Amino acid sequence: MSVNEQVDIGAAYLEAPEEEILARIAARKAEFGDRLLVLCHHYQQEATFRFADHTGDSLKLARNAAQSSARYIVFCGVHFMAESADILTGDDQVVLLPDLRAGCPMADMATEAEVAWAWQELAAATGGATVVPVTYVNSSARIKAFVGARGGSVCTSSNAERVLTWAFGRGEKVFFFPDEHLGRNSAHALGVPDEEVVLWQRGLPMGGNTEAALRRARVILWNGYCTVHMQFAAGHVEQWRQQDPTVRIIVHPECRREVVDLADRYGSTEMIIKAVADSPPGSHWAVGTEINLVNRLHLLHPDKEVHSLSPFQCLCSTMYRIKPAYLLWVLDNLAREREVNRISVDPETATLAKQALDRMLEI
Ligand code: 13P
Ligand code: SF4
Repeated sequence: MSVNEQVDIGAAYLEAPEEEILARIAARKAEFGDRLLVLCHHYQQEATFRFADHTGDSLKLARNAAQSSARYIVFCGVHFMAESADILTGDDQVVLLPDLRAGCPMADMATEAEVAWAWQELAAATGGATVVPVTYVNSSARIKAFVGARGGSVCTSSNAERVLTWAFGRGEKVFFFPDEHLGRNSAHALGVPDEEVVLWQRGLPMGGNTEAALRRARVILWNGYCTVHMQFAAGHVEQWRQQDPTVRIIVHPECRREVVDLADRYGSTEMIIKAVADSPPGSHWAVGTEINLVNRLHLLHPDKEVHSLSPFQCLCSTMYRIKPAYLLWVLDNLAREREVNRISVDPETATLAKQALDRMLEI
């Protein structure tokens, strides 16, 4: 189902007072009991987040889905996360995404046709070198299937370095998509020299590279990016350090390399949460990730100072589409035995994508 097919849920939902919507969601949740599992990503807005049975980063939520026996899994995240949940759950389980417009712009930057074309061009240019494909979990099920069929693996922001190490053990080169920055930061952390990392620019012949550069490269990065994390700049780190010499800077690895290099720490959303939670009272943090998570950390730790690294609101506007009214609309329909906004990956794609996901879960 396309992410553009969201139907109008109507004024009865969109104009109802928020208190009423929240009370009705709570009642529906009680009615469904353990037949329903609500999963919320850390970037979810508070009004929706409060209904989560489990919260997590994309890896943790994929595991939660895989371990659940609930009949209905309502995924309050973005489209690729719901697809992964569908792939990892049984045929008798139903995964729903409250608003189909909750896509991930980064995932949309690598279509199967583009990647397949690039794969062929790369093979021709590198004269039969073994290339291992690695896709960030922020990608469509079709891309995961492409990777699964070619012996590659999925990775997330919490295991990208481990998956890259695994891939280096299996081939001469790694083709990493769709996030240039997670790939570059992970390759750098593993000590891969800069001259062995090249960028594949979508739409250009040979990705804009010479044959010699592709033959020399160990890591080929797709030029996808996260519109939220690209808003953090090296200048923000410098400003914070001048303003507050005690501040600790922590960022998500989807940020540019110069930001990650200047930060004290970097890691997945789970890792950021843990680092702030484990720090002593009185700690000062500037956090380079999505604003809903930063605001939540600020509220959860009144004994610490937690701010956004950027002075601007870095909001994941697609994740933000999962408003309580949409969650209620999905639950009301389920109560009438109507499965609206079901995310269902076709069996052939799911089998191949699962191979790539399972490789990651085993690594
Ligand atoms: P996490 O894997 O850290 O949850 O990141 C997912 C994501 O979309 C970050 O932008
Ligand atoms: Fe995609 Fe960025 Fe939103 Fe994460 S924060 S879901 S990568 S757009």
